[in-house]
Amino acid sequence: MNNTDTWLVTGGAGFIGVNFVKMLLAEKLGRVVVLDALTYAGNIRSLESEIESGAIEFVKGDIGDSQLVAGLLARIRPAYIVNFAAESHVDRSVDNPRPFVEANILGTQNLLECARQYVKNGGELRKFVQIGTDEVYGDLDMDFDEPQLLEGAEALVGREVRVFGRETFSESSPLKPSSPYSASKAAADMMALAYHRTFGLPVVVTRCSNNYGPYQFPEKLIPLMINNIMEGRSLPVYGKGLNVRDWIYVDDHCSGVIAAALNGRLGEVYNFGGYYEARNIDLINMLIDLVRESEGINGSGLVTYVSDRPGHDRRYAMDASKSIQELGWKPEVLPEDGMKRTVRWYLDNLPWVRDIVEGEYRSYYEKMYSNR
Ligand code: NAD
Ligand code: TYD
Repeated sequence: MNNTDTWLVTGGAGFIGVNFVKMLLAEKLGRVVVLDALTYAGNIRSLESEIESGAIEFVKGDIGDSQLVAGLLARIRPAYIVNFAAESHVDRSVDNPRPFVEANILGTQNLLECARQYVKNGGELRKFVQIGTDEVYGDLDMDFDEPQLLEGAEALVGREVRVFGRETFSESSPLKPSSPYSASKAAADMMALAYHRTFGLPVVVTRCSNNYGPYQFPEKLIPLMINNIMEGRSLPVYGKGLNVRDWIYVDDHCSGVIAAALNGRLGEVYNFGGYYEARNIDLINMLIDLVRESEGINGSGLVTYVSDRPGHDRRYAMDASKSIQELGWKPEVLPEDGMKRTVRWYLDNLPWVRDIVEGEYRSYYEKMYSNR
């Protein structure tokens, strides 16, 4: 790696992509070009200052557009392609799976094929990083009502970790996706690995647990709950609120992706996790407390149990020891600090959230939550 390398970040106007682009720039890792279709989830405002200052080049376009992608690769000659572009929301995939097949499977295949042709024509591609998710592994049992200490966590991540079950997902766990979203992501991972095996494309696949932090689209749990508390709207908890997610601060995911791009072995999969399991209802209560402490607004009366998500995964938990040992990576942000920082960011950036909520998202919200 040197800082004249070009990084093509697809989906760079989405939640994780924006944070990743900002990290690449802060660490001066090279020239950054973003390719993003600006779907409902992409927000160019999040990169306004980087675009205006000329720190990045922004190209609006679809990863599935072969002419556009081929021309772009030939012109910018990337050393790294990092593919964040995807339809990413499970509930939308339950409502309509088709766009997930188009963006996540066909779009990724097109990007891989264009990368293959670019290399064939002399392009010096060091890594194609396919961004995957823990959801491809399906879900895990909950063995404990109260979280238990995870053995060996101190040595692995340098702190105590509590878990709701014995099992975790490793990179060799079978793929058992539950939703159209996770099925499409599993297909994309497999296609990327096939392009490595069959064509020698320098692929690595990363899989991460639930991210939280700034710039997340407010249809996802954490920003949705913070915004609803501020607006006095009900807080829709699916089922009994007992499903468990493993939460990771978005910067910890981004540093893992950079480590995989720079040092990951070709054809390998790397898991990242936050080592922070929480039941949805406990997390929501924590958000209520944090907003109350900061703003004096009491959202506890707003909690509303609604019908469950069909096929709702019970528990996710990642074993990220391969990434920790091979890439020298670990999640650095303490959960309490990360959550405080995140709540602060949304409270300080309500206009960013409200701009989105006023737009296309309003009709989505009515459709998903009225009569639920
Ligand atoms: P997001 O929905 O916030 O952003 C996705 C971005 O991709 C948007 O900017 C959108 O405009 C763009 N996009 C969608 N289809 C496109 C296409 N065909 N061509 C070009 N751009 C397109 O999603 P996110 O939460 O930032 O997730 C990014 C990636 O990380 C996804 O691949 C997702 O599966 C994966 N991931 C997310 C999480 C999480 O917790 N959010 C966890 C693990 C993995
Ligand atoms: P989400 O942020 O959609 O991420 P994912 O489904 O990819 O894990 O949801 C996180 C958890 O929160 C999941 O178990 C579903 C639950 N949830 C609710 O209970 N209410 C909501 O309004 C949303 C959006 C999610």
